[in-house]
Amino acid sequence: MLVQLLLLLLLRALRTRGQCTSLLQTSKLHLTSIPCSIHQTGLTNDSEAKWVETWIQKNPQCQHKLWKDEEVEKFVQQNSDQLLWPIWPGLTHVERADVFRYLVLWKEGGYYADANVECMKPIDEWGIPNEATMIAGYEFGHRLPEEDRKLFQFARTEQFEQWFLASAPGNPVLLRCMELVRQRYSWKLQDTLQLSGAGVWSDAVHEFLARTVPEVLEKEVAFRSNKSELLRKDTRGVPSERLYGPDASGGFMWVAAAGRVNPEAHVEQWDPTEGKEALVYRHTK
Ligand SMILES: *[C@@H]1O[C@H](CO)[C@@H](O)[C@H](O)[C@H]1NC(C)=O
Ligand SMILES: *[C@@H]1O[C@H](CO)[C@@H](O)[C@H](O)[C@H]1NC(C)=O
Repeated sequence: MLVQLLLLLLLRALRTRGQCTSLLQTSKLHLTSIPCSIHQTGLTNDSEAKWVETWIQKNPQCQHKLWKDEEVEKFVQQNSDQLLWPIWPGLTHVERADVFRYLVLWKEGGYYADANVECMKPIDEWGIPNEATMIAGYEFGHRLPEEDRKLFQFARTEQFEQWFLASAPGNPVLLRCMELVRQRYSWKLQDTLQLSGAGVWSDAVHEFLARTVPEVLEKEVAFRSNKSELLRKDTRGVPSERLYGPDASGGFMWVAAAGRVNPEAHVEQWDPTEGKEALVYRHTK
């Protein structure tokens, strides 16, 4: 009886290990490029419909889907029964939209933009190298001193926006992001930016950069051990408009300058070199 029980436990442990291994193996496969497929959510009124239209008009060769709430819910139930579905009823509408973008790009790949984000020029003219399996944009042109972070109500001193992002399917950065959401949920975090928004997304991006850019940690230690460095308003973790990688999955991340994705005037004012021609434009008014 006892022997049988032990055998059963051993078998179960092996099976769980098998699952982990297959997950790792999947992430070792080389990622494909970012598919020409555009996903959007969050259409709340007619004035936003014209921004959605810019994605369709400028990229006629791409697939486009504007997801409705019921479709989002069904997709999560069918594609993330372990990770996201168990916490779904406890997430707010905004938090659901947050986690859905990570899941849909993880499953299907493509470009994600909120409904109030305008496409400024055709994707195939963006000039981002084909090797890129992810696009992440700085939300602000420099790292914020901690005081400014609090003042601007940012979740991170160096934040990546997530009203726009892009990825190849199966990107482990997105899986990690969803795991981080689950972890924070169990830690009882309630702040949306921290739990599911720009905070958690920035963390997943920073983990990728820490893995693939050897100087990142060294630079952080130097930064934190010098009080005047901590107050600088002209520094950022890694230079923007560059490709980083590969990670173990063969993934390369394109880090876009803040001005590419954030149209707010202060981005260019503070950091003129980050004020590049916008690829996307978020309309907040
Ligand atoms: C501390 O940072 C300031 C400003 O960036 C720099 O000028 C100075 O050389 C640094 N000091 C040390 C000891 O590294
Ligand atoms: C549409 O929604 C945006 C933000 O969600 C709001 O600022 C704007 O006033 C709304 N427009 C109309 C016509 O209701």
